[in-house]
Amino acid sequence: MTSSPTGGSAPEEGRYGEDLFAPEHPREAERIDAAALVFDPVTTRRLRALGAGPGSRCLEAGAGTGTVARWLLDEAGVDEVVALDRDTARLNALAGPRLRVITADLTDEALRPGGFDLIHARFVLMHLPQRRRIVTRLAKWLNPGGWLVLGDALEVPDPTDSTSAYRRTMDAMWQALRSTIGTDISSVPAYPHFLREEGLRDVAAELVGPPLVAGSPLALFWAETWRRMRPALEETGLVDAVVIDEALAYLASPRLAELGPGMAMAWGRRG
Ligand SMILES: C[S@@+](CC[C@H](N)C(=O)[O-])C[C@H]1O[C@@H](n2cnc3c(N)ncnc32)[C@H](O)[C@@H]1O
Repeated sequence: MTSSPTGGSAPEEGRYGEDLFAPEHPREAERIDAAALVFDPVTTRRLRALGAGPGSRCLEAGAGTGTVARWLLDEAGVDEVVALDRDTARLNALAGPRLRVITADLTDEALRPGGFDLIHARFVLMHLPQRRRIVTRLAKWLNPGGWLVLGDALEVPDPTDSTSAYRRTMDAMWQALRSTIGTDISSVPAYPHFLREEGLRDVAAELVGPPLVAGSPLALFWAETWRRMRPALEETGLVDAVVIDEALAYLASPRLAELGPGMAMAWGRRG
């Protein structure tokens, strides 16, 4: 089933998919899947540990290409998954009796998708300036005992390196993401606190940093992200075409040795 639960128009803020990462780009699904391939094992291990399984109704918020939604349905065997995204072109093919696809904007305050035993949002809130208010609303959609699980990027940059092409390009990327679509990873370490402020219990968090190795899906993800953002990277004034080319070559080279951005996951449950 595909539906729009409110029929209301989306707010103006939050331009992911418009100013950057257009969903119709021929390599966008591949780019999202490259990151999913790396982080799905970590995510699904955590969701299973939190009890995702038969008897649960789940919300995958900002579901992307639906890899986690599919896992919840096929591997964890949950009763129902609601896969919600602003762009559902890649999710519609997955819709079925136990998987409902909702085309909606998470920033839409009128959104009421129902109650859930598990709500998961990965690499979504970091892109939305309204992230703190959205956490409040996601927490309200939890059934008693239900888990809210948030996953977003976290950087552990080398403090002694401000000049390498890799560092300068990565810094330009975060700055460009912030100025174009409002991405901000600075509050990711505060997610456990946000969950506690919402009255959730058993709050905990972990940080995972998969190896950034030349030719790996993670290196391909960053390379494609930088290529797609080239004009925005140069507009920051932090890098030029030569630096970006050097950084791209480094990502593909056996010399690559970086503690790349990882993912912080935080979870808590309604009492
Ligand atoms: C980086 S992708 C992550 C996809 C998926 N969660 C994953 O980890 O593979 C971000 C997703 O969030 C969706 N998104 C961005 N802004 C949104 C909004 N305001 N409301 C709903 N979905 C949004 C995008 O369309 C995209 O599918």
